[in-house]
Amino acid sequence: MMAACQAESTAALTRSVTAPAKLNLTLRVLGRRPDGFHELESFLVPIDLCDELSFTRVARDSHSLECDTPDVPLGDENLVLRAVRELESSTNPSAQTIHPPASWHIRLTKRVPIGAGLGGGSSNAAATLKAINDWSGNGAPIAELTNCAARLGSDVPFFLHDSPAIVRGRGESVTPTQAAFSGGFLLIFPGFACSTRRVFDAFDQDSDHSDRTDRTIDPFADHPSPNAEQLAVRLFNDLTAPAFRVYPKLERLCRDLQQTLGRTLHLTGTGSTLFCPVDTADQARVLAETIRQTLDLNSLFTQLRF
Ligand code: C5P
Repeated sequence: MMAACQAESTAALTRSVTAPAKLNLTLRVLGRRPDGFHELESFLVPIDLCDELSFTRVARDSHSLECDTPDVPLGDENLVLRAVRELESSTNPSAQTIHPPASWHIRLTKRVPIGAGLGGGSSNAAATLKAINDWSGNGAPIAELTNCAARLGSDVPFFLHDSPAIVRGRGESVTPTQAAFSGGFLLIFPGFACSTRRVFDAFDQDSDHSDRTDRTIDPFADHPSPNAEQLAVRLFNDLTAPAFRVYPKLERLCRDLQQTLGRTLHLTGTGSTLFCPVDTADQARVLAETIRQTLDLNSLFTQLRF
């Protein structure tokens, strides 16, 4: 009886949420801004590869974080803890959500690879902002959450929306939109991380951007319900060439995979994940098996989440 009561009260103090990964279906770099960041335009979609976070209110003075993956730093620099602090220090009183103020023990279960261009850390931060904000019932308006999100990182505002979106500026301008694709995406994980900063620096060092495309940023604009082949020809990423210059082994891998699979692969964000649209899970299974046998790499079939 006692144990049952304890379990119930713990459950009442704990809430779990999922935090999806993203793919950049298109990404255009418009130029470098005075603040050193880059002006971007990108069509982003959330996918059904998700981390999980659980939040438990605790009677302690400080917040704590645990994670099932050893590579994730658990100190103050972690985006999840930074998100909690952003809310606490928000100047908008309605963003200081919990009264009386609470401490949190947060458990993070990682499924999204780190440094892979899939936005895992940013998504964790956005999920934290939303979960803690929702808890109070009268939380901050989306505009205030967006301000907090933008201070945390360029991809964080996108993840507040649970929708495909066209993202502009440094990432703070998010326009939710539609993306109808009944197939899915095969993600291929090269097994190493890419540094976002190094890839943007490499973009700046390249004075010749003549290979860039004038394709439309919305791959669904003139084909609202494409098949995999129709979608694939509409995808592009201005950061692919710089990422390949910084990581020549990524370029070699991409070339080998394209030859083996007979498909064009795309980079998400600054990498390292490569992907291609596929029409069915069965097709993806066949490709995944070929990738495993020939290059000993992990891959995963994933679909749009919303
Ligand atoms: O904002 P985020 O933490 O994702 O950015 C990591 C690094 O990538 C930044 O410090 C910056 O060097 C670079 N970056 C950029 N322009 C962007 C986004 C990121 O130059 N729009």
